[in-house]
Amino acid sequence: MLDDFESVSPTAIVTAYPRQFTDIPYEKEIYEWLSDNCNNNDIKLNKLLAPEIEARYKLTNKILDNLKITQVLELAAGYSSRGIIYAEKGYEYIEMDLEEVAKNKVRLLNDITSIPNNLHITSGNALNYADFEKCGEYLNKNKEVAIINEGLLRYLTFEEKEIVAKNVYSILRKYNGVWITCDVTPKKFIQKQNDFIPDFNNNLNLVTSRNNLTDRFEDIEHINKFMKNIGFKSVEIHKFIEVKDELSSFDILGIDKNSADEVLDSAIVAVIKI
Ligand SMILES: C[S@@+](CC[C@H](N)C(=O)[O-])C[C@H]1O[C@@H](n2cnc3c(N)ncnc32)[C@H](O)[C@@H]1O
Repeated sequence: MLDDFESVSPTAIVTAYPRQFTDIPYEKEIYEWLSDNCNNNDIKLNKLLAPEIEARYKLTNKILDNLKITQVLELAAGYSSRGIIYAEKGYEYIEMDLEEVAKNKVRLLNDITSIPNNLHITSGNALNYADFEKCGEYLNKNKEVAIINEGLLRYLTFEEKEIVAKNVYSILRKYNGVWITCDVTPKKFIQKQNDFIPDFNNNLNLVTSRNNLTDRFEDIEHINKFMKNIGFKSVEIHKFIEVKDELSSFDILGIDKNSADEVLDSAIVAVIKI
């Protein structure tokens, strides 16, 4: 089963690429390292993804900052700079991703900077509770934890999403805190994404067979029902468009600032509590 998930790993390059066209620290160096060290010849990259990827990154940060929780477990962290940036701010930060990506991440960060003691890059499968328990060695039981993931659940079937959600629930029962994720993207968002970036999803289908419309949530009601069934008490929804004025990629790429409104209005980050 793990081999199957490994097919999702190249999508971490798909999302790292557009972040270099933003003002997010480290992202240019990260992408430069990836293009020098990883074979991405078969992957179609798209600059137009930048506003959406920047928005989900910045909205997630904004929610995290407002919560004042300083212990984070980021699942499927990929090549994102969030871990190193928050660790440098003093957060206890744990990243989990599949083995190859986690190994690359350690090499990458050691090459472009140094890894602080409070940043822990672990290899693990988000469907495997034992891998969450391994992260427990870095978690302080007296502090709440924020669990974050961006770009994982969309590649999983509903049965698999349920396993991840139950794992997250069990960790939150133990430590308290919150789950912040944009991965509950409803179907409407995919339609708007297809309008804004024609071919993006078709090209993604060439990278992984796990990009299926049938694995999307229908709407907010569907998300609420799914989360309540797991045992979560509340789901708060934020739209990407909340951070539109903070996006640097429009100017960097010379794109009309209003051109992505429909994408940003249909994409969401959910804040889920037990
Ligand atoms: C679209 S990328 C997103 C990476 C990063 N969060 C970002 O926004 O750039 C998807 C990531 O999910 C990871 N992944 C896929 N299946 C996984 C699993 N079962 N457990 C943990 N990580 C997984 C992949 O290795 C990849 O890094």
